[in-house]
Amino acid sequence: MSRLCFVANWKMNKSIPEAEAYLRTFEEHAARRGIIAPLLDVGLAETNLAEIILAPPFTALSFVSEFLKRSSLRVDLTAQNVHYEGGGAFTGEISPPMLRDVGCGYVIIGHSERRQLFGETDEAIHRKLEAVIAYGLRPILCIGETLLERQAGKTWSVLKRQLEQTFGKFLHGREEGARLPEWIVAYEPVWAIGSGQTPTPEDVGSVLQKIGGFFSEGLAEGQEKSRPRILYGGSVNEDNIETFMKDRELDGVLVGGASLSAEKFLKIVECGTSARRN
Ligand code: PGA
Repeated sequence: MSRLCFVANWKMNKSIPEAEAYLRTFEEHAARRGIIAPLLDVGLAETNLAEIILAPPFTALSFVSEFLKRSSLRVDLTAQNVHYEGGGAFTGEISPPMLRDVGCGYVIIGHSERRQLFGETDEAIHRKLEAVIAYGLRPILCIGETLLERQAGKTWSVLKRQLEQTFGKFLHGREEGARLPEWIVAYEPVWAIGSGQTPTPEDVGSVLQKIGGFFSEGLAEGQEKSRPRILYGGSVNEDNIETFMKDRELDGVLVGGASLSAEKFLKIVECGTSARRN
């Protein structure tokens, strides 16, 4: 079984003092020695069950990274976006080496808010993916269909196009540096994000199977198991997490709104992990 993964996407929220309060709540939970403690505390066993990844805004990355280094919290860091060049005259942008510098292991790429509100194309997302991989970071690639696309029965064709145009080259060409199991794909239906509406577990299950198939089709013999971890995202909360995690194809979730409270997010991690254990 792949290690489960719970990503907290803070989006454009949280000052540094708010980030600090959040991390202090994590420390309190790690000290309580409940079910959550072994997932949070580097000193405790059961290291491989689940991975917790925080996605603060750029302005808090450095603070969170330093805090994590000083604490014994077992938490990874991802940026929410990146530019595809290593450096240069790109006012207002952040490069992959800068993210490595502040301790990020991952980068979220192609979030639907980037695609829809900031006009990011599949081509731009592919360039970002290449840059992230070239600089030794791990991508969390988001894909998802809009409501109109879903109603027109185009869900899989949209997702397939998004996968082809970003991952395709790495898959079929077996490009240097393609370490699929270290990467993450997040299926996030656009209409489910922040709306309180979610697809049925059966709908998610059928998409997960197709994504899995997409990766196994492109693999050489003997490499069937080599696929990215696959997450679901869109209105995940502590009440619906168990239902999603019942599907054993799912490797975890990407949480937006409900991740802004450390308590709520840890509850999601706790329920999600125990759902998988039972
Ligand atoms: P949400 O956001 O949990 O608030 O729906 C998810 C996301 O945007 O990744």
